[in-house]
Parts: sequence; C-alpha cells; structure tokens
Amino acid sequence: MSFPASLPALPGTPAWRALARHRAALSGRRIAEMFADDPGRFADLSLSLDTARGPFLLDLSKNALTAETLDLLAALAAECGLAEQVAAMFAGEAINATEKRAAFHVALRAGADAPPEVREVLDRIADFSAAVRAGDWRGATGKAVTDVVNIGIGGSDLGPAMVCGALAAFGRDDLRAHFVSNVDAAHIARTLRGLDPETTLFIVTSKTFTTQETLRNATTARGWLTGHLGEAAVAQHFVAVSTNAAAVSAFGIDTANMFGFWDWVGGRYSLWSAVGLSIAIAVGFEAFEALLAGARTMDEHFRDAPPLENLPVVLALAGIWNHSALGIPALAVLPYDQMLARLPAYLQQLEMESNGKGVTMAGAPVAAATAPVLFGEPGTNGQHSFYQLLHQGTRAVACDFIVVAHSHYEIADHQPMLLANALAQAEALMRGRSAAEAKAEMLAKGTPLAEAERLAPHRAFPGDRPSTTILLPRVTPETLGMLLALYEHKVFVQSAVWGINAFDQWGVELGKQMAGAILPELMGGEPRPHDGSTAALIGLVCALRAPEGAGDADEGDDEEGDADDGPGGDADSGDGGGEG
Ligand code: F6P
Repeated sequence: MSFPASLPALPGTPAWRALARHRAALSGRRIAEMFADDPGRFADLSLSLDTARGPFLLDLSKNALTAETLDLLAALAAECGLAEQVAAMFAGEAINATEKRAAFHVALRAGADAPPEVREVLDRIADFSAAVRAGDWRGATGKAVTDVVNIGIGGSDLGPAMVCGALAAFGRDDLRAHFVSNVDAAHIARTLRGLDPETTLFIVTSKTFTTQETLRNATTARGWLTGHLGEAAVAQHFVAVSTNAAAVSAFGIDTANMFGFWDWVGGRYSLWSAVGLSIAIAVGFEAFEALLAGARTMDEHFRDAPPLENLPVVLALAGIWNHSALGIPALAVLPYDQMLARLPAYLQQLEMESNGKGVTMAGAPVAAATAPVLFGEPGTNGQHSFYQLLHQGTRAVACDFIVVAHSHYEIADHQPMLLANALAQAEALMRGRSAAEAKAEMLAKGTPLAEAERLAPHRAFPGDRPSTTILLPRVTPETLGMLLALYEHKVFVQSAVWGINAFDQWGVELGKQMAGAILPELMGGEPRPHDGSTAALIGLVCALRAPEGAGDADEGDDEEGDADDGPGGDADSGDGGGEG
C-alpha cells in the first residue's frame, strides 16, 4: 500500500520488530499490484466455512498484506500467548481480571455441553416465548400479547434490537418487538404511542438492574400501564431479565417472572442469554436456538482451527495490521443488507467498549494503537453519504463489506443492483483512478483540454484503500450467529495481542457519576463548583427550562409527578387514557 508518510512506532518485541521490517519491505507496493503479481492471491487470502446454504466466506485479499504478513502476525499472536488465552476463555477462567470474573459467553451457546443453569433458563425461555406466541400468556384483561417492548440499554438493547431487525423476515406481523433505550422521554413516548396496554408486554432487561436510563424508562412504562389497568396488572405485563433478583423484586416485578443470567456474561456478549428473550418471542425459540447453533459453529471453529485457517483469528490479525501497524484510525462496517441496519451500532459497542483501552492487563500504557473508531451504515445508503471520504479523504479507512447473496425480498433486480454496488465499491476503493485516467476519460467525452486538466485532480481517486469482504449466502439465524461470533472472537484475539482486557468498561463510569452530580442542579438544587463552561451551560439550561416568569427551582419540584406519570400522558394522548 502507499503507506502514510508517518507510520506508528511499533513495540519492541521480536515479533513486532519482524513486522516493522516487513512493513518497510512492503512499503510502496499497491494492493492492485499484489493481485497482478499473484494470480493465487484471492485463493490464498480467503477462507470459508460451510453452512446449510453455502459457504460463509472471508476475503482478506483486498487488504495491504500478503501471506507472509499473516504468518508474521500469527507469530505475534503466539508471542502474546493467544492459544493459552483462548483455552482460558473456553475453560471459563476468570480472564476478566479487573472484575475477577470469567467471560464465558461461549457457554451460553454450547448446546448439549452448556452448564445446567444455562439449559434451565433456555427451557424457561422456550416455554415463555411459546406461550406468548401462542396467545396462552394473557394480559390482565385476558387478551393475548401483540407488542413486546424491551427496555434496556447498551448490551441489554443493541444485541436483541439488532438481531430482531436482522431476522424480521422470520417474525410475525401480529407480534411486534419494540426497543426503548434512551432516557430521552421521546423514545418511550413515541414507542408507547399507538400501543394498547392490554396487549403490551414489557421486558425490563438490565444485567445490573441499577442502570439509570432503564429504571427511569421502566418506571415510566409501569406508570403508563398501571394508569390504564391498575397495579395488579404489573404481574401479567412486566417480566425482567437480570442477574440482580433483589433489585428486580424491589422494582415490583415478581422474581417468578424473572429470567436470570450470570456475572460471567458481559453486557455486550449477552444476547445469547435471557437478554435474547425478545428475540425468542419475535422469531420463535427454534430460530433463537438456530442463532445459538450458528454461533456455536463459529466457536468450535475458533477453538479448534489452526491460526492461519481460523476466520476470527485472521480477521483480527488483518485488523491489527491495519490499525496498529499501518495507523489506519477507523473501520467502516458496511452491510449490504438493509436487515443488518443496526449491525454497525451493535459492533460499535462490541469493538469500542471492549477494546477502546489504553492500558494493558498489567496497568501499563499499551504500546500499540488499539480499537479503531468504528462506524457504518447499510449500503447503498452510505454511498450517498460518507463514502466520499472513504474514496478521496486524506486518511485511509479500513472497510468491512458484508455482502449477502440472497435477499428475503427478491423483487425484480433489486438484489443484483445491491450486490453490484457492494462489489464495485470494494474494487473502486482498491483500484482508484489516476489523474491521467480521469483526464483521458473527460477528453474522450469531449471536455476541452484546459477544463479536463483543471478537473483531473478533483476527479482522481488515490485507490489502494484496504477492505475485507464477508460473503454470506443469506441472513438466517444460523449465518447471523456465525457472523456475530466471528466479530466477538475477532475482538478477543485483538485484545490478546494488544494485552488489554476486552471485558471491562471502566471508561463509562466517570461520565455516569458526573451526570448523577449535575442532575440535582438541573432540578433546582444548589449549584456546585464546575469549570467555567459547564457552570455557564448549567445556568443556561436552567434558564431555558424555567417556566416563563418563574424561578429555576419550580421545575424541579414535580419529581413525583414525573416519575409516576412520566410521559405516559403524552404517549397516550391519542386515546385520552393517560394520567398526564
Ligand atoms: O454503560 C455501560 C454498560 O455497563 C454496558 O456495558 C452495558 O451493556 C450497559 O451499560 C447496560 O447495563 P445493564 O444491562 O446492567 O443495564
């Protein structure tokens, strides 16, 4: 690749030093030249796994690397003790050292080998989801459930929301899943609008059951429900998914209606647990089990395949090369499948909350650049938005194209058009177009010479921008499970090489604490010391929110009314049944 002028310094261990030498040797070689030099490049740098519908393929050949690069990266992984760390994860050891607990999500999808407590909860999910889907679980007035509202945030939202979207073709029109996460009242108000309390089931999903946003939204939802149906209705309309039975009970949900999981399930790795209850209800328990089975296929492959034949390992190694060795700061995830629209948001948490770390397990500054900034949108939408920067911006962005051969909605030539765009974008990013080519093209179309020369630099593309393609035959529960487990294990492999803990998230704490301190000030409490900007902004927010002609303090006095009535009245204003 035409590497950037200033490349990152690499750590000084033998494997990193070998990679630094290799990087220097490759410098200046364009990816397109590597294809020209090696007709076997695609075959050498792509791997696949069989599925019931055809191969699940990972193509790394459009990255700025060679088979030798992967060899050296595999040596780096070995130097970092990857094999031992993988074994420790599969053995359920406490690899999340800062929180002294295992990260044992693979046990959730281990099938017959799953621990008894996992099987027991799965059986309860099977029974409950079947009862809801059959209309046997009835609301307080005897009606069947038509709408399920999962209230949760982060891992208690993104995983199930993304999967329910991805598998919507397997769902039913008469049983809808909704997801409320943001503490912004607009989210719950807009969701409840149009729902019928008599046929709505809330799933309050929170590993800790202490998360501010979730408890606030759940309290509002309860106020909406009891405002219509009375307190006694809570038992038929609220279930909880949590590890914290005491807090569930304190909230007012009978623990008989609680689906448990365990501290060894990290929030962003939890969709495979009872956190997936909304998935099982929306698409059926069989499909949920197929999702788990797909993940298990990838788990077993990850555990058993040699590093260079191992999809998660090589995907991770290519990422380390791009981000740590070539200094590429960002990763765009580009699913060419509208049903995977929430995948980039889900992967943002998975990658950035897991590996957005600056210290090693030992507490020392980490020596190489860690997780990239991850963003994305489904294709082709992104093409009409941020792809400009991907093609012509001053810094390269690594891209993951997720390409799906078959749509669940094969209409006319939509799918070939979608696929053509996916394949063309990856090719264009790599190939680019020189100013001379741009000029010649314009001249051929009759553009005057001076104009062609003036525009040529603007219409040139540097190319040589690396991308990875993941090709799926179709989005099914099985292939989706494989895809998600692929990324989970990729993240783990990268953490092992970077020497960081992928399973804690202390970085989210400070802002939460400080929000807790500012909240009373916004509700009429005494001002506290802040920097000049924050103090001024608090003052302005209070002034903007004060009722006209009233002091700041008035707004904060309505605490009870807000908590109990919430925006239920607003949400409900359509049918006039709310408490306002
Ligand atoms: O704020 C970060 C976080 O702890 C995530 O890791 C987690 O997925 C989310 O909050 C929600 O946590 P909980 O499931 O405990 O409500």
